[in-house]
Amino acid sequence: MSILYYCKGDDGQVLQSFRQHLPGHRIIDWNSERPLTAPEQITAAIVWMPPDEFFENLPALKQVYAFSAGVDQLLQHPSLPKDVAIIRLLDAGMALQMAEYALYGTLHFQRQMGLLRKAQARHEWVCEVKANATADTRIGVLGAGALGLQVATRLSLNGYPVSCWSRSARQSPDGRMTMLHGDEAMPEFLANSQVLVCLLPMTEATRGILNQQLFSGLPRGAFLINPGRGDHLVDDDLLSALASGQLSGALLDVFSVEPLPEDHPFWDHPDILITPHVAAQSLEEESVRQIVDNIEAIERGKLPSGLVDRQSGY
Ligand code: NAP
Ligand code: GLV
Repeated sequence: MSILYYCKGDDGQVLQSFRQHLPGHRIIDWNSERPLTAPEQITAAIVWMPPDEFFENLPALKQVYAFSAGVDQLLQHPSLPKDVAIIRLLDAGMALQMAEYALYGTLHFQRQMGLLRKAQARHEWVCEVKANATADTRIGVLGAGALGLQVATRLSLNGYPVSCWSRSARQSPDGRMTMLHGDEAMPEFLANSQVLVCLLPMTEATRGILNQQLFSGLPRGAFLINPGRGDHLVDDDLLSALASGQLSGALLDVFSVEPLPEDHPFWDHPDILITPHVAAQSLEEESVRQIVDNIEAIERGKLPSGLVDRQSGY
């Protein structure tokens, strides 16, 4: 079996690892082995951020293994045929990192670190900060999937009251979280989210979901954490919500345009913390193992984990 390989940023180590784990397969490096020999024998591809022409002239292509949790960029890929199966990573070490990221943002809000940082810049000893109890700091997690559910569970284990919102009904793994689903439950969910964490996939239903209307449903002074995708957020609506005090701050990891353009107003905003799409990174060994297991499962006629439903877009 021939597999075409392109993972942006790989210095060759990940490719080598795939070759070690799949000795019976020809793994072709798109970067160094073009023009491709026998492209008609290529039945699968392993990718992260493949170039626009990557999938052209691959008549036997059946599966694409995404080296990522989100597959929005693949579903919109200009040369990927619609009948090719997409298989993504589930967790692969990202859930724990995402939980740490959400906890960092939550503590920034809860302990009023933004206010303290501003006071430090003015060399001012501001010690009249309100003590916000953990049990009174209510967190809402948008998305209860491979990442959202674990993030919510870990925050709940830290003692925060957590609500989780998804498309279909989900059970609370620890029996303590409030699980809500569907549009009707959104007002209740928002009203209980002083800290809002977005871990939705990017689909037509979720594009622009972090907008003025949603912000107006949050408690006044709420804090936004967005490690989902940049297009979930309406940038101007965030700026307006911060200006009006409806939101007190935001921790953002993803942006409509990445890298975030140098002149974007988010860079210098005193109430916005920016990280460059590093909230959670798939762990190499776990990701390779998961993709290899899935390739072998499909070869044995079994269903892989992480099969993307093209209809729902995730
Ligand atoms: P997932 O397992 O597919 O979970 C998605 C969750 O969102 C599910 O609970 C799903 O509901 C819910 N959902 C989807 N559409 C919805 C809608 N229209 N209304 C309400 N709920 C909806 O995804 P994941 O693996 O947790 O990853 C989530 C996202 O995180 C990825 O798609 C990616 O964009 C982002 N991500 C970012 C980074 C980073 O470093 N910044 C790293 C990894 C991933 P159901 O449970 O009902 O299906
Ligand atoms: C990263 O953003 C991913 O989707 O894995």
